[in-house]
Amino acid sequence: ELSPIDKAKFVAAKRAVDFVEDGMRVGLGTGSTAAWMVRCLGELVRDEGLKIKGVPTSTRTAALARDVGIEVISLDEARWLDVTIDGADEFDGDLNLIKGGGGALLQEKIVATASDQMIVIADVGKEVETLGAFPLPVEVIPFGWQTTKALVEEMLISMDVLGRNTTLRMIGDHPFVTDEGNHILDLHLSRIGNPRQVAMVLNQVPGVVENGLFIDICDTVIIGYGDGRVQVRD
Ligand code: A5P
Repeated sequence: ELSPIDKAKFVAAKRAVDFVEDGMRVGLGTGSTAAWMVRCLGELVRDEGLKIKGVPTSTRTAALARDVGIEVISLDEARWLDVTIDGADEFDGDLNLIKGGGGALLQEKIVATASDQMIVIADVGKEVETLGAFPLPVEVIPFGWQTTKALVEEMLISMDVLGRNTTLRMIGDHPFVTDEGNHILDLHLSRIGNPRQVAMVLNQVPGVVENGLFIDICDTVIIGYGDGRVQVRD
């Protein structure tokens, strides 16, 4: 028996795989919601002979996809994808997102951008009026990360973003390391009134590789509820 939150994630994931057709190249997201989707796709591949190629967005998702019988190819082999299905940490009324709670935002953004369509699957608790309550992940290269952090903080002040506490993501005593060997700064901003501008300016700071704001990338959000209902928004 699933908890209400897992049920919400599951029903959203289950609905999302209806969008996947034979022959498609599919971007496979990362996180607990996306994991449900990968398992649902695996079931269709095994039981119904669905023929797809999957491009994972993390080593974690690659391992799970292979486990459940999905043929995995690299983005360079695929070049272009029909659809990407991924989770999110927050989405707003314009379907803009914060992603990267799981630390995979760089590959996720590259893969989603290379897709004709991005579908986000999320439990209803991820919906917000204004992005920013969830700390914004920013991927930075390890070299000089403290300088990069200071530059990011200065940039936030100059842009009048509220709440400027930034922290280096840790795992125990060590900085978290992404699939690309980078670190993550989490920006505790509480409210991002101008996400488009913040996303653009962040990426101009040397040392910043990418940020977790997904602006105009997502086409559809499938919202799951604890009682099993789903709502499709696009
Ligand atoms: C991974 O880096 C993230 O972008 C995830 O997609 C996001 O954190 C959602 O994860 P859950 O589905 O586990 O909430």
